[in-house]
Amino acid sequence: MRGSSKGKNSSYIKCLKCRECKREYQLMPMHICEVCFGPLEVDYDYEKIKISKANFRSRKPNMWRYREFLPVEGEVLPYDVGFTPLFRAKNLEKYLGMSEIWIKNDGVNFPTLSFKDRVVAIAVKKAKDFGFNAVACASTGNLANSVASIARIYGVKAFIFIPYDLEPTKVLASSIYGAEVIGIKGSYDEVNRLCAEISEKYKIAFVNINIRPFYSEGSKTYGFEIAEQLGFRLPDHVVVPMAGGSLITKIWKAFKEFEMKGLLKEVYTRLHGAQPEGCAPIADAVKKGLTIFTPVKNPKTIAKSLAIGNPPDGYYAVKVIKESGGYAETPSDTEIIEAIKILAEKEGIFTETAGGVTFGAFLRLLESGKISKKESVLIALTGNGLKTQEALAEHVPPIKVIHPTIESFEDIYKDKLEQFK
Ligand SMILES: Cc1ncc(COP(=O)(O)O)c(C=O)c1O
Ligand SMILES: [Zn+2]
Repeated sequence: MRGSSKGKNSSYIKCLKCRECKREYQLMPMHICEVCFGPLEVDYDYEKIKISKANFRSRKPNMWRYREFLPVEGEVLPYDVGFTPLFRAKNLEKYLGMSEIWIKNDGVNFPTLSFKDRVVAIAVKKAKDFGFNAVACASTGNLANSVASIARIYGVKAFIFIPYDLEPTKVLASSIYGAEVIGIKGSYDEVNRLCAEISEKYKIAFVNINIRPFYSEGSKTYGFEIAEQLGFRLPDHVVVPMAGGSLITKIWKAFKEFEMKGLLKEVYTRLHGAQPEGCAPIADAVKKGLTIFTPVKNPKTIAKSLAIGNPPDGYYAVKVIKESGGYAETPSDTEIIEAIKILAEKEGIFTETAGGVTFGAFLRLLESGKISKKESVLIALTGNGLKTQEALAEHVPPIKVIHPTIESFEDIYKDKLEQFK
């Protein structure tokens, strides 16, 4: 069942447009073309957008600084969602012998420590504008946390649908906000199917289903920030984690929009996709040179946040990777853990399993020569390691337990302490 189409047109949002047959629709909570079943996307009146680099200087450090390119109007969350740290990874450069590595860390995003706060900040606002009193999502964990939290900020009810066996920390970090958390005995794809059915029958805004065209635009802000934080230039390569395949397509859209408005010169960046070996429908298609992916029936990976076997934007993710000249890689669970440890030990960042996939994929791309050591790369970290601790539990050394005496302390290190005298 649909909500009303109360959300007013802003000066820049034009319509919803089918990505396939280009048919245009009014701004409504819908996501699929009624004629060809293609996905709908927000289209803007780009001609009218007047923006220069200088305009950004006076704006607050949050995702709303890109409002001309977002499908929102009126009041938005007064918090600093987005504009997360982007920094030069000097220790990694030295370790890998590479000339320029950048990391952007959405693991410290507000309010729930993943890039999903960007998409949900828009989706819940849109749901309210459209007259919904309840929001919901089908989630692999991070989206669940974000919807549960941001629904409280906006004062609407939240229904969270997840596979019942997600990481306990991610489940708790949804339940704490007082949301209805429903664990489904099935894979993410089954959760998603059920949610699509519920969204047809009840007036509930499923952020990643009936509000999806608006929601997914939030991911563009990750791309805008890469460009702006690097001084309106782009690296040679960006490595991006993929689950549903939306983020990577929206980073590309962001680069192209900035290029169109003269905020970037030419976009020559290669976008590379990262998926875990045990669930890599998009990456496998790229590696085999196919345009159509084959869904994965039984995902098996420690990177649960990326375990989407039938990615809704998979087809477009493959397209974007090809268009940009990028590639994809699929690290194993062992490589994911190793990658998480390297990031922690070299750069002091504890990323979640999805970050291990991304960094692990980068290491493979470097090894195979798809990325050269002389080029610049940005690693897109999108989640926080505190949420997926169990994956690492057996892979960190046990702590040293001693008596509260100086002798006990000296006993465990013996003569190694000489150097600190
Ligand atoms: C931490 C993290 N990174 C990346 C992704 C992938 O995003 P997308 O579904 O847009 O490909 C997800 C999706 O859940 C995620 O939780
Ligand atoms: Zn269509």
